[in-house]
Amino acid sequence: MNRHIFQHVDSYIATAFANEDPVLAGVINSLEAANLPQHSISPVQGKFLQVMARSCGARKILELGTLGAYSTIWLARSLPEDGQIITVEVDQAHAAVANENIIKGGLSSKVDLRVGAATDVLSEMLKNGECPFDMIFIDADKPNYPDYLKLALELSKPGTLIIADNIIREGKVLDENSEDERVRGVQRFNRMLSTHPKVTATVIQTVGSKEHDGMALAVVN
Ligand code: SAH
Ligand code: DHB
Ligand code: MG
Repeated sequence: MNRHIFQHVDSYIATAFANEDPVLAGVINSLEAANLPQHSISPVQGKFLQVMARSCGARKILELGTLGAYSTIWLARSLPEDGQIITVEVDQAHAAVANENIIKGGLSSKVDLRVGAATDVLSEMLKNGECPFDMIFIDADKPNYPDYLKLALELSKPGTLIIADNIIREGKVLDENSEDERVRGVQRFNRMLSTHPKVTATVIQTVGSKEHDGMALAVVN
């Protein structure tokens, strides 16, 4: 197995199913220009999120970790006319780039970008009764994934689809002795999710233009 074949197949899929328009390509360029990390999901993963959002009829989506709004834009484009996505970003500089991209995409009316630590922003939403969400995409800092799962479940209803990115980390998740807080966060998240009585869940591993990784998928019972 080599990365080559995965990349070629990924671009075969992307060419047929997940072509980037200038707005999405512009997000990637804006990250490069601002010297921000290229941690956006891939085009094929963006299309995957759209299919998931449509299949659960999502009208209200919550996203943790905006970066340049690449995944936000894919998700926002899956929404019906009156749909909304709230996306949470802790870093002011990331949020500024994201905001420009959302405007360029003509999606300001559908995207509510909130700047702050996800734990704080979600706790505030719970307090204000800003829920439930139809779909929640977790993609912020990995050490806090267990807390995000807990909050996500509180902001859910039966049928809510919860998806979390970066669950496999090139297989690092197998290392029970890992001292990497990101790996440990994801391991705890997986244990919580796999044993939680309130969800039906699994993990799919992914290969393609990004490194070998995976997404957790959970439906609230
Ligand atoms: N979802 C994006 C990628 C997100 S990368 C996409 O696919 O296009 C992870 C993002 O989470 C980074 O922008 C980082 O600043 C943000 N982040 C890190 N810690 C956070 C926190 N505590 N609360 C909210 N966002 C956080
Ligand atoms: C990292 C974060 C992500 O969300 C991602 O998709 C890839 C890498 C990171 O922080 O290393
Ligand atoms: Mg990610």
